[in-house]
Amino acid sequence: VAQGVAPATVFVGFMGAGKTTAARALDPDAADADALLERRLGTTIAEYFERNGEPAFRAEEERLVLELLERARGGAIALGGGALTSSRVQDALKAHRVVWLDVDADTAWRRAAGPQRPLARDEQRFRELHAEREPAYLAAADAIVPDGADLQKVAAAMRDWPPGARLLWALAGQHPVWIGRGLLDTGHWPLPTRRFLVSDGRVARLYADKLEPLAGRVSIMPGEQSKTVAHAEIVWTELARAGMTRADHVAALGGGVVGDLAGFCAATYQRGVPVVQVPTTLVAQVDSAYGGKTGVDLPEAKNYVGAYHQPAAVLVDPATLETLPSEELAAGYAEVVKTALIAGGELWERVRSGAIADEHVIVGCVRTKLRIVAADERDAGPRQILNLGHTIGHAIETATGYARYRHGEAVALGLLAALRLSGQDALRTEVAALFAAQGLATQLTEVDPDAVLGAVALDKKRLGEGPVPFVLVRAPGDVRHGEQVDPDEVRAAVGELVA
Ligand SMILES: NC(=O)c1ccc[n+]([C@@H]2O[C@H](COP(=O)([O-])OP(=O)(O)OC[C@H]3O[C@@H](n4cnc5c(N)ncnc54)[C@H](O)[C@@H]3O)[C@@H](O)[C@H]2O)c1
Repeated sequence: VAQGVAPATVFVGFMGAGKTTAARALDPDAADADALLERRLGTTIAEYFERNGEPAFRAEEERLVLELLERARGGAIALGGGALTSSRVQDALKAHRVVWLDVDADTAWRRAAGPQRPLARDEQRFRELHAEREPAYLAAADAIVPDGADLQKVAAAMRDWPPGARLLWALAGQHPVWIGRGLLDTGHWPLPTRRFLVSDGRVARLYADKLEPLAGRVSIMPGEQSKTVAHAEIVWTELARAGMTRADHVAALGGGVVGDLAGFCAATYQRGVPVVQVPTTLVAQVDSAYGGKTGVDLPEAKNYVGAYHQPAAVLVDPATLETLPSEELAAGYAEVVKTALIAGGELWERVRSGAIADEHVIVGCVRTKLRIVAADERDAGPRQILNLGHTIGHAIETATGYARYRHGEAVALGLLAALRLSGQDALRTEVAALFAAQGLATQLTEVDPDAVLGAVALDKKRLGEGPVPFVLVRAPGDVRHGEQVDPDEVRAAVGELVA
């Protein structure tokens, strides 16, 4: 943000995204660039376009938008859908906060199609334009707000925007995800009520003080072996002894183990209190902190007891990854690759060319996960694709008593098996090489394949007496759930992993 300028909050996005409405939710006096432009041109945009052509219109639009951005002192501005095609506008936006209202092409077409919009008359061209413009919106965005967001809640969150952070809005649970290096040093906290920390001993020593003031602190031993009903009882008891009430909330600080356990305890303590997730591992920052799945393991099977409980907010400080041991970073990389295979497109290209955990990768993974969860919060179908690699991965964890492999390490092996079952031999080779480069094992050692196959049969995705459905990859970006696989092929894919 340039010196001396009070940044405005500038709403961008495709036609039909609802930019003006969203800007007014934040600021009733928000400026609407299209309306101002029509006034200046003395005619409608459609007519001006018709008479003078698109280049002349874009020049007028650029001039007006640059003036608006130059003169802005705080407040909100809604830009026209194409304003970002100007590189001068893109530059000027760097001094402001840019909110991308992310609307899918179907919805946009439904809302915008018609004679009054010159670029919304031909459906195919409209859809092409939607795809063409996305990278510019994404590159400029300080916030990504998907269509369907509760604009009052979004506006309330934006009024307390932590310096330097990016906002991703989660539709499931209607909550903010703030991502920013150094976020935990800003003192930002999304809820005004008393916070009670749940963490593991290692993470608490490193970061708990950054979350002060804390009304109480509960710590468990680090590691998957703490994700049990017995540990949940310890947490409930400690929260009760610390005097936590329904008006208070849990701050879950740590990796996926803390997030799942603390989230489950928050879902059940006095029948439910809010939880703020503060993920500190790569697994948690790209995956487990979002989506509201919380729970604990049974000795028989993983994640067998739990509840859906969406967080009230998620605070992601990638700087915490600097203290993460390299094996833990590698374990998280397995979830990154999984998410990139699901997303396809730019995220997959970035990951396959060697990116591991930069902020772009984290944001890309979070966006992907939030989008899938929003489409199917309770796992009725589409959300199951997030279990890519997890059917055999979880079975490996169960068969080895949750002690031998980190969750991510088991997922890496499960992903390789899933790619074999998908008939994706070249992709399996490529992914195995990516894993090996991060020091992840691509073979199972000292594990009885029959124990793994036995655990596969207990997978949670199985319904009734039916076979265990698998998640398979047709291509990066095209992942299907509920696929039937021949048991002999499963045996072969697991057998291949055993060194
Ligand atoms: N709920 C979901 O949707 C979901 C998704 C994926 C995974 N999970 C679950 O997540 C769990 C795995 O999570 P995980 O891999 O984060 O493991 P974890 O929580 O056990 O953390 C790994 C280790 O890293 C340490 N650690 C954490 N942050 C650190 C930091 N910043 N610096 C130094 N050390 C740090 C922890 O103390 C721990 O020893 C599994 O139980 C898995 O089932 C849940």
